[in-house]
Amino acid sequence: MRIPIAAGNWKMNKTVAEASAYAEALLQELDTPGVEVIICPPFTSLYALSRKFAGSSVKLGAQNMHWELKGAFTGEISGSMLLELGCEYVILGHSERRHIFRETAEEVGKKVETALKLGLRPILCVGETLEERERGETEAILAYQLEKGIEGITTFSNVESIVIAYEPVWAIGTGKAATPQDAQEAIAFVRGKLSEQFGSEKAQQIRILYGGSVSPENVGQFVNQEDIDGTLVGGASLDAGKFLDIIKETA
Ligand code: G3P
Repeated sequence: MRIPIAAGNWKMNKTVAEASAYAEALLQELDTPGVEVIICPPFTSLYALSRKFAGSSVKLGAQNMHWELKGAFTGEISGSMLLELGCEYVILGHSERRHIFRETAEEVGKKVETALKLGLRPILCVGETLEERERGETEAILAYQLEKGIEGITTFSNVESIVIAYEPVWAIGTGKAATPQDAQEAIAFVRGKLSEQFGSEKAQQIRILYGGSVSPENVGQFVNQEDIDGTLVGGASLDAGKFLDIIKETA
């Protein structure tokens, strides 16, 4: 049984004060056993939120990290720093990192490898652009990003702690979500690739999320699909009320 996930990626939104107020509102209403709730705020709010969420079931995640543990990398944050701040998860290879900040698939792979070694759970994002989809390259892109993302994993003992997020780039922040059928098809393909790499038992344990214009209205259609184990939510996770509705629909 894969426990479903509702994960909020706040991207570059919310001050510490705003994040703290959100956490209080969320905790006041949150009563949904059976769903793993993850909040990924900007780095600046991690410490405050780790204190707010202490003793609750809400997990904390970061939105990026460097693959090295320390050194002369101005502006970067290491996985060990995230662990110290109470993070259990880290989003890696989000399309905004790949496309705006030119992160390569190889770099994402190095980050996944480091995160797993540290005991941080990567949420590895993969997804095609609209042009790639129209050219019929969706599966090739997913296979490439996935292959590079997981190629540094040499021991499979904790590989099931990885989460994969399928986020078609054209659905992110556009209000145009993928159809549940298209998302299921892409995610089943990803699970098949995981099975080739790690064996079917491990692949059946790995949770794969859909992300891209998820809302309280459409989330139910995604989580009802056989291979979709929850969602990675951007815009709609910024409002505690909407995110609570998404969590309830995920249960
Ligand atoms: O990581 C979540 C994301 O990229 C989707 O964003 O705003 O379309 O839900 P949004």
